[in-house]
Amino acid sequence: MKIAIGNDHTALEMKAAIKAHLEEKGYEVLDLGTNSTDSCDYPVYGEKVGRAVVDGEADLGIAICGTGVGISLAANKVKGVRACVCSEPYTAKLSRMHNDSNVLAFGARVVGVELAKMIVDEWLNASFEGGRHQRRVDMLMDIENHVTVQ
Ligand code: RB5
Repeated sequence: MKIAIGNDHTALEMKAAIKAHLEEKGYEVLDLGTNSTDSCDYPVYGEKVGRAVVDGEADLGIAICGTGVGISLAANKVKGVRACVCSEPYTAKLSRMHNDSNVLAFGARVVGVELAKMIVDEWLNASFEGGRHQRRVDMLMDIENHVTVQ
């Protein structure tokens, strides 16, 4: 399985740790940057991760900025992306099982490296349950396609 990973300047060390963790577990990692400590704009990297997933270059994506919020907002602007900011493993797991999240976001200034690894592991080990959750995910996609679900 290939995981796209992208981050802003706040998350270089976190990205390196998560990348090493993923590779240790046998995942292929597509590193979309940034790999510089120069201040940069998180939308660039959120979009890159989102597009890599939607275009099929990667199976899933991980997006990291200071809080996880900005980069997840950017990823979510790409049609077909369901990015969720998760600061603990339970939400990460349920975001896969119920929301079919395809991009995991978190904040390098919010969670420590060991907690981030647990969040990533729970997320990757969970699967979408389908059933009633499929209907709700379809409704999310309807909203994206300007079809009202009210
Ligand atoms: C950068 O200072 C910071 O705004 C960014 O990493 C992120 O937290 C935005 O949501």
